[in-house]
Amino acid sequence: MNTTQRAVLIRAYGGAAAAELAGIHKPEPGQGQVLVRVQAAGVNGIDWKVREGMVRDAFPLPLPIVLGAELAGVVEAVGPGVSRFRAGDRVMGTVGGLGAYADFVLVSAAILARTPEGLDHVQAAAMPVAAVAAWKSLHHAGPVRAGQRILIHGAAGGLGGYAVQYAKRAGAEVYATAATADLDYVRSLGADHVIDYQSQRFEDLVRDIDLVLDYVGGEVLDRSWQVLARDGAIVGTSSPDILARTPANRRGLWFINQPDPELLETLAAEVAAGTLQSRVSEVVGFLDIPGAIERNRTVPRAGKVVADFAR
Ligand SMILES: NC(=O)c1ccc[n+]([C@@H]2O[C@H](COP(=O)([O-])OP(=O)(O)OC[C@H]3O[C@@H](n4cnc5c(N)ncnc54)[C@H](OP(=O)(O)O)[C@@H]3O)[C@@H](O)[C@H]2O)c1
Repeated sequence: MNTTQRAVLIRAYGGAAAAELAGIHKPEPGQGQVLVRVQAAGVNGIDWKVREGMVRDAFPLPLPIVLGAELAGVVEAVGPGVSRFRAGDRVMGTVGGLGAYADFVLVSAAILARTPEGLDHVQAAAMPVAAVAAWKSLHHAGPVRAGQRILIHGAAGGLGGYAVQYAKRAGAEVYATAATADLDYVRSLGADHVIDYQSQRFEDLVRDIDLVLDYVGGEVLDRSWQVLARDGAIVGTSSPDILARTPANRRGLWFINQPDPELLETLAAEVAAGTLQSRVSEVVGFLDIPGAIERNRTVPRAGKVVADFAR
Protein backbone atom coordinates (compact mmCIF):
# COMPACT_ATOMS: atom_id res chain seq x y z
CA MET A 1 0.00 0.00 0.00
CA ASN A 2 1.29 3.48 -0.90
CA THR A 3 1.52 5.47 2.33
CA THR A 4 2.99 8.69 0.96
CA GLN A 5 1.00 11.52 -0.50
CA ARG A 6 1.49 14.99 -1.96
CA ALA A 7 1.44 18.01 0.34
CA VAL A 8 2.36 21.71 0.39
CA LEU A 9 4.22 22.57 3.59
CA ILE A 10 6.71 24.91 5.23
CA ARG A 11 9.75 23.68 7.16
CA ALA A 12 10.75 27.20 8.24
CA TYR A 13 9.13 30.64 8.04
CA GLY A 14 10.04 32.69 4.99
CA GLY A 15 9.16 34.19 1.60
CA ALA A 16 7.66 32.60 -1.49
CA ALA A 17 10.19 29.74 -1.59
CA ALA A 18 9.36 28.63 1.95
CA ALA A 19 6.19 26.88 0.76
CA GLU A 20 7.26 23.65 -0.95
CA LEU A 21 5.81 20.50 -2.45
CA ALA A 22 6.73 17.41 -0.45
CA GLY A 23 5.76 13.80 0.16
CA ILE A 24 4.27 13.05 3.58
CA HIS A 25 2.79 10.08 5.35
CA LYS A 26 -0.85 9.28 4.65
CA PRO A 27 -2.68 9.36 8.02
CA GLU A 28 -5.22 6.95 9.52
CA PRO A 29 -8.44 8.31 11.05
CA GLY A 30 -8.61 8.20 14.85
CA GLN A 31 -11.57 8.56 17.20
CA GLY A 32 -14.10 11.01 15.80
CA GLN A 33 -12.03 11.72 12.69
CA VAL A 34 -12.80 11.53 8.99
CA LEU A 35 -10.12 10.88 6.37
CA VAL A 36 -10.98 13.05 3.36
CA ARG A 37 -9.64 12.42 -0.15
CA VAL A 38 -9.21 16.08 -1.07
CA GLN A 39 -10.44 17.19 -4.50
CA ALA A 40 -10.06 20.94 -4.10
CA ALA A 41 -8.76 23.44 -1.54
CA GLY A 42 -9.28 27.19 -1.20
CA VAL A 43 -6.34 29.63 -1.03
CA ASN A 44 -6.52 32.19 1.79
CA GLY A 45 -4.47 35.06 3.16
CA ILE A 46 -3.73 33.00 6.24
CA ASP A 47 -1.45 30.75 4.10
CA TRP A 48 1.12 33.46 3.36
CA LYS A 49 0.68 35.06 6.78
CA VAL A 50 1.63 31.74 8.42
CA ARG A 51 4.37 31.14 5.83
CA GLU A 52 5.99 34.47 6.69
CA GLY A 53 5.69 33.87 10.45
CA MET A 54 3.32 36.83 10.87
CA VAL A 55 1.04 34.94 13.24
CA ARG A 56 3.64 32.86 15.06
CA ASP A 57 3.21 34.77 18.33
CA ALA A 58 -0.58 34.44 18.31
CA PHE A 59 -0.54 30.84 17.01
CA PRO A 60 2.73 29.01 17.78
CA LEU A 61 2.88 26.12 15.30
CA PRO A 62 5.05 23.01 15.20
CA LEU A 63 7.12 22.99 11.99
CA PRO A 64 7.03 21.50 9.44
CA ILE A 65 3.35 22.22 8.90
CA VAL A 66 1.09 21.58 5.93
CA LEU A 67 -0.69 24.77 4.82
CA GLY A 68 -4.28 25.18 3.63
CA ALA A 69 -7.35 26.04 5.70
CA GLU A 70 -10.33 24.68 3.74
CA LEU A 71 -11.15 21.78 1.46
CA ALA A 72 -13.76 19.81 -0.41
CA GLY A 73 -13.57 16.14 -1.29
CA VAL A 74 -14.85 12.64 -0.67
CA VAL A 75 -14.77 10.61 2.53
CA GLU A 76 -12.11 7.92 2.19
CA ALA A 77 -12.56 6.34 5.64
CA VAL A 78 -13.98 7.17 9.05
CA GLY A 79 -12.53 6.54 12.50
CA PRO A 80 -14.21 4.98 15.53
CA GLY A 81 -17.23 6.88 16.82
CA VAL A 82 -18.12 8.52 13.51
CA SER A 83 -21.68 7.73 12.43
CA ARG A 84 -22.62 10.90 10.53
CA PHE A 85 -20.38 10.16 7.53
CA ARG A 86 -19.33 7.11 5.56
CA ALA A 87 -16.91 6.35 2.74
CA GLY A 88 -17.99 7.99 -0.50
CA ASP A 89 -19.82 10.98 1.03
CA ARG A 90 -19.08 14.37 -0.55
CA VAL A 91 -17.87 16.75 2.15
CA MET A 92 -16.55 20.29 2.59
CA GLY A 93 -15.22 22.38 5.44
CA THR A 94 -12.42 24.10 7.26
CA VAL A 95 -9.85 21.74 8.74
CA GLY A 96 -9.80 23.35 12.20
CA GLY A 97 -6.42 25.00 11.70
CA LEU A 98 -4.16 24.16 8.78
CA GLY A 99 -3.39 21.09 6.69
CA ALA A 100 -5.79 21.12 3.71
CA TYR A 101 -3.07 21.06 1.01
CA ALA A 102 -2.58 17.29 0.98
CA ASP A 103 -4.24 14.47 -0.94
CA PHE A 104 -5.62 12.88 2.25
CA VAL A 105 -6.50 15.00 5.26
CA LEU A 106 -7.90 14.18 8.69
CA VAL A 107 -10.79 16.37 9.81
CA SER A 108 -12.88 16.12 12.96
CA ALA A 109 -16.34 14.85 11.99
CA ALA A 110 -17.80 17.56 14.23
CA ILE A 111 -16.68 20.37 11.91
CA LEU A 112 -17.29 18.74 8.52
CA ALA A 113 -20.28 19.64 6.33
CA ARG A 114 -21.97 17.73 3.54
CA THR A 115 -21.53 19.15 0.05
CA PRO A 116 -24.98 19.67 -1.45
CA GLU A 117 -26.05 18.23 -4.79
CA GLY A 118 -25.29 20.64 -7.57
CA LEU A 119 -22.15 22.12 -6.00
CA ASP A 120 -18.89 20.83 -7.47
CA HIS A 121 -15.74 20.40 -5.40
CA VAL A 122 -14.09 23.59 -6.67
CA GLN A 123 -17.14 25.70 -5.81
CA ALA A 124 -17.41 23.96 -2.44
CA ALA A 125 -13.75 24.56 -1.55
CA ALA A 126 -14.20 28.30 -2.07
CA MET A 127 -16.80 28.61 0.68
CA PRO A 128 -15.87 27.24 4.14
CA VAL A 129 -13.72 30.14 5.36
CA ALA A 130 -15.17 33.12 3.53
CA ALA A 131 -18.90 32.36 3.46
CA VAL A 132 -19.00 31.50 7.17
CA ALA A 133 -16.59 34.24 8.33
CA ALA A 134 -18.57 36.87 6.40
CA TRP A 135 -21.83 35.75 8.00
CA LYS A 136 -20.46 35.58 11.52
CA SER A 137 -18.51 38.82 11.31
CA LEU A 138 -21.62 40.63 10.02
CA HIS A 139 -23.52 39.56 13.14
CA HIS A 140 -20.55 39.75 15.55
CA ALA A 141 -21.41 43.17 16.99
CA GLY A 142 -25.07 42.25 17.48
CA PRO A 143 -28.15 41.59 15.34
CA VAL A 144 -28.25 43.53 12.09
CA ARG A 145 -31.42 45.59 11.75
CA ALA A 146 -33.18 46.80 8.61
CA GLY A 147 -32.16 50.34 7.76
CA GLN A 148 -28.72 50.15 9.38
CA ARG A 149 -25.90 51.75 7.46
CA ILE A 150 -23.09 49.25 6.93
CA LEU A 151 -19.72 50.04 5.36
CA ILE A 152 -17.83 47.02 4.01
CA HIS A 153 -14.12 47.45 3.29
CA GLY A 154 -12.71 44.92 0.83
CA ALA A 155 -16.17 44.24 -0.58
CA ALA A 156 -14.89 42.48 -3.70
CA GLY A 157 -12.78 40.01 -1.74
CA GLY A 158 -13.57 36.51 -0.53
CA LEU A 159 -15.42 37.64 2.62
CA GLY A 160 -16.67 40.92 1.19
CA GLY A 161 -18.58 39.38 -1.71
CA TYR A 162 -20.71 37.34 0.66
CA ALA A 163 -21.03 40.09 3.27
CA VAL A 164 -22.52 42.54 0.76
CA GLN A 165 -25.22 40.00 -0.09
CA TYR A 166 -25.97 39.07 3.55
CA ALA A 167 -26.15 42.72 4.62
CA LYS A 168 -28.55 43.59 1.80
CA ARG A 169 -30.79 40.68 2.71
CA ALA A 170 -30.88 41.93 6.29
CA GLY A 171 -32.28 45.20 4.95
CA ALA A 172 -29.15 47.30 5.51
CA GLU A 173 -28.04 50.22 3.40
CA VAL A 174 -24.70 48.96 2.11
CA TYR A 175 -21.64 51.10 1.38
CA ALA A 176 -18.82 49.14 -0.20
CA THR A 177 -15.18 49.94 -0.93
CA ALA A 178 -13.42 48.15 -3.79
CA ALA A 179 -10.90 48.67 -6.58
CA THR A 180 -11.96 50.50 -9.78
CA ALA A 181 -12.14 47.25 -11.73
CA ASP A 182 -14.40 45.62 -9.13
CA LEU A 183 -17.02 48.33 -8.67
CA ASP A 184 -19.52 46.80 -11.12
CA TYR A 185 -19.11 43.40 -9.50
CA VAL A 186 -19.79 44.81 -6.03
CA ARG A 187 -22.80 46.74 -7.37
CA SER A 188 -24.12 43.53 -8.95
CA LEU A 189 -24.08 41.91 -5.51
CA GLY A 190 -26.45 44.58 -4.25
CA ALA A 191 -24.26 47.33 -2.77
CA ASP A 192 -26.23 50.60 -2.67
CA HIS A 193 -23.14 52.84 -2.75
CA VAL A 194 -19.75 51.85 -4.14
CA ILE A 195 -16.54 53.70 -3.33
CA ASP A 196 -13.39 53.34 -5.40
CA TYR A 197 -10.59 52.96 -2.87
CA GLN A 198 -8.04 53.72 -5.59
CA SER A 199 -9.39 57.19 -6.41
CA GLN A 200 -11.71 58.19 -3.56
CA ARG A 201 -11.43 58.60 0.19
CA PHE A 202 -14.38 56.93 1.88
CA GLU A 203 -14.18 59.36 4.82
CA ASP A 204 -15.03 62.21 2.44
CA LEU A 205 -18.15 60.41 1.23
CA VAL A 206 -19.83 58.58 4.10
CA ARG A 207 -20.76 59.25 7.71
CA ASP A 208 -23.02 57.97 10.52
CA ILE A 209 -22.18 54.37 9.77
CA ASP A 210 -23.68 51.87 12.24
CA LEU A 211 -21.31 49.02 11.41
CA VAL A 212 -17.99 48.89 9.59
CA LEU A 213 -16.86 45.47 8.43
CA ASP A 214 -13.13 45.91 8.04
CA TYR A 215 -11.74 43.16 5.84
CA VAL A 216 -8.63 45.22 4.98
CA GLY A 217 -7.13 46.51 8.22
CA GLY A 218 -4.17 48.81 8.87
CA GLU A 219 -4.67 52.44 7.91
CA VAL A 220 -8.13 51.65 6.49
CA LEU A 221 -9.13 50.67 10.02
CA ASP A 222 -7.54 53.79 11.52
CA ARG A 223 -9.39 56.05 9.06
CA SER A 224 -12.75 54.37 9.75
CA TRP A 225 -13.46 55.69 13.27
CA GLN A 226 -14.36 59.11 11.89
CA VAL A 227 -17.24 57.72 9.77
CA LEU A 228 -18.87 55.78 12.64
CA ALA A 229 -22.15 56.83 14.20
CA ARG A 230 -21.85 57.53 17.94
CA ASP A 231 -23.02 54.02 18.88
CA GLY A 232 -21.49 52.35 15.86
CA ALA A 233 -19.01 49.48 15.87
CA ILE A 234 -16.11 48.28 13.75
CA VAL A 235 -15.63 44.54 13.37
CA GLY A 236 -12.17 43.69 12.08
CA THR A 237 -10.81 40.47 10.60
CA SER A 238 -7.42 41.74 9.46
CA SER A 239 -5.80 43.76 12.25
CA PRO A 240 -5.48 41.55 15.36
CA ASP A 241 -4.46 44.66 17.32
CA ILE A 242 -7.81 46.35 16.68
CA LEU A 243 -8.49 46.66 20.42
CA ALA A 244 -5.26 48.60 20.94
CA ARG A 245 -6.20 50.79 17.96
CA THR A 246 -9.70 51.53 19.21
CA PRO A 247 -10.03 55.11 20.49
CA ALA A 248 -11.55 55.71 23.93
CA ASN A 249 -15.35 55.45 23.99
CA ARG A 250 -15.50 53.72 20.62
CA ARG A 251 -16.42 50.11 19.91
CA GLY A 252 -13.90 47.97 18.02
CA LEU A 253 -14.21 44.19 17.93
CA TRP A 254 -11.70 41.58 16.76
CA PHE A 255 -13.31 38.67 14.96
CA ILE A 256 -11.97 35.12 14.86
CA ASN A 257 -13.81 32.63 12.71
CA GLN A 258 -15.02 29.31 14.09
CA PRO A 259 -16.17 26.32 12.04
CA ASP A 260 -19.95 26.06 11.74
CA PRO A 261 -20.87 23.09 9.54
CA GLU A 262 -24.61 23.65 9.87
CA LEU A 263 -24.34 27.25 8.69
CA LEU A 264 -21.95 26.19 5.93
CA GLU A 265 -24.43 23.56 4.66
CA THR A 266 -27.20 26.18 4.57
CA LEU A 267 -25.05 28.68 2.66
CA ALA A 268 -23.70 26.01 0.30
CA ALA A 269 -27.25 24.90 -0.52
CA GLU A 270 -28.02 28.51 -1.44
CA VAL A 271 -25.05 28.70 -3.79
CA ALA A 272 -26.12 25.39 -5.35
CA ALA A 273 -29.64 26.78 -5.79
CA GLY A 274 -28.34 30.01 -7.31
CA THR A 275 -29.73 32.30 -4.59
CA LEU A 276 -26.28 33.25 -3.22
CA GLN A 277 -23.41 34.27 -5.47
CA SER A 278 -19.98 32.81 -4.82
CA ARG A 279 -17.13 33.86 -7.09
CA VAL A 280 -14.18 31.66 -7.97
CA SER A 281 -11.89 33.92 -9.95
CA GLU A 282 -9.08 31.45 -10.65
CA VAL A 283 -8.56 27.69 -10.52
CA VAL A 284 -4.98 26.43 -10.24
CA GLY A 285 -3.46 22.96 -10.24
CA PHE A 286 -1.91 21.28 -7.18
CA LEU A 287 1.65 22.05 -8.29
CA ASP A 288 0.83 25.76 -8.51
CA ILE A 289 -0.36 26.05 -4.89
CA PRO A 290 2.91 27.64 -3.62
CA GLY A 291 2.65 30.22 -6.42
CA ALA A 292 -1.03 30.86 -5.70
CA ILE A 293 -0.21 31.46 -2.02
CA GLU A 294 2.33 34.11 -3.00
CA ARG A 295 -0.03 35.71 -5.56
CA ASN A 296 -2.68 35.99 -2.84
CA ARG A 297 -0.22 38.35 -1.14
CA THR A 298 0.86 40.30 -4.21
CA VAL A 299 -1.82 40.28 -6.94
CA PRO A 300 -5.14 42.15 -6.59
CA ARG A 301 -8.10 39.93 -7.45
CA ALA A 302 -11.84 39.79 -6.80
CA GLY A 303 -13.26 36.51 -5.51
CA LYS A 304 -11.49 33.32 -4.49
CA VAL A 305 -8.63 31.23 -5.85
CA VAL A 306 -9.13 27.47 -5.59
CA ALA A 307 -6.69 24.61 -6.22
CA ASP A 308 -8.20 21.71 -8.18
CA PHE A 309 -6.27 18.60 -7.15
CA ALA A 310 -7.22 16.80 -10.37
CA ARG A 311 -5.24 19.30 -12.45
N1 LIG B 1 -9.97 36.72 11.66
C1 LIG B 1 -10.49 35.71 10.95
O1 LIG B 1 -11.04 34.75 11.50
C2 LIG B 1 -10.39 35.77 9.46
C3 LIG B 1 -11.10 34.85 8.67
C4 LIG B 1 -11.01 34.98 7.29
C5 LIG B 1 -10.24 36.00 6.73
N2 LIG B 1 -9.56 36.84 7.53
C6 LIG B 1 -8.79 37.97 6.98
O2 LIG B 1 -9.76 38.89 6.48
C7 LIG B 1 -9.21 39.60 5.37
C8 LIG B 1 -10.11 39.45 4.17
O3 LIG B 1 -10.08 38.10 3.72
P1 LIG B 1 -10.49 37.76 2.22
O4 LIG B 1 -10.32 36.29 2.08
O5 LIG B 1 -11.77 38.40 1.89
O6 LIG B 1 -9.30 38.52 1.44
P2 LIG B 1 -9.24 38.93 -0.10
O7 LIG B 1 -10.05 37.98 -0.91
O8 LIG B 1 -7.80 39.13 -0.42
O9 LIG B 1 -10.03 40.33 -0.14
C9 LIG B 1 -9.50 41.52 0.32
C10 LIG B 1 -10.09 42.61 -0.55
O10 LIG B 1 -9.73 43.88 -0.01
C11 LIG B 1 -9.47 44.74 -1.09
N3 LIG B 1 -8.68 45.89 -0.67
C12 LIG B 1 -7.33 46.03 -0.57
N4 LIG B 1 -7.00 47.25 -0.14
C13 LIG B 1 -8.17 47.91 0.03
C14 LIG B 1 -8.50 49.21 0.46
N5 LIG B 1 -7.56 50.11 0.80
N6 LIG B 1 -9.81 49.56 0.54
C15 LIG B 1 -10.78 48.69 0.20
N7 LIG B 1 -10.55 47.42 -0.24
C16 LIG B 1 -9.24 47.05 -0.31
C17 LIG B 1 -8.76 43.86 -2.07
O11 LIG B 1 -8.81 44.49 -3.32
P3 LIG B 1 -7.58 44.37 -4.37
O12 LIG B 1 -7.84 43.05 -5.03
O13 LIG B 1 -7.78 45.53 -5.27
O14 LIG B 1 -6.29 44.42 -3.59
C18 LIG B 1 -9.60 42.58 -1.99
O15 LIG B 1 -10.68 42.61 -2.88
C19 LIG B 1 -7.80 39.03 5.18
O16 LIG B 1 -6.90 39.86 5.88
C20 LIG B 1 -7.87 37.66 5.84
O17 LIG B 1 -6.61 37.20 6.27
C21 LIG B 1 -9.60 36.75 8.88
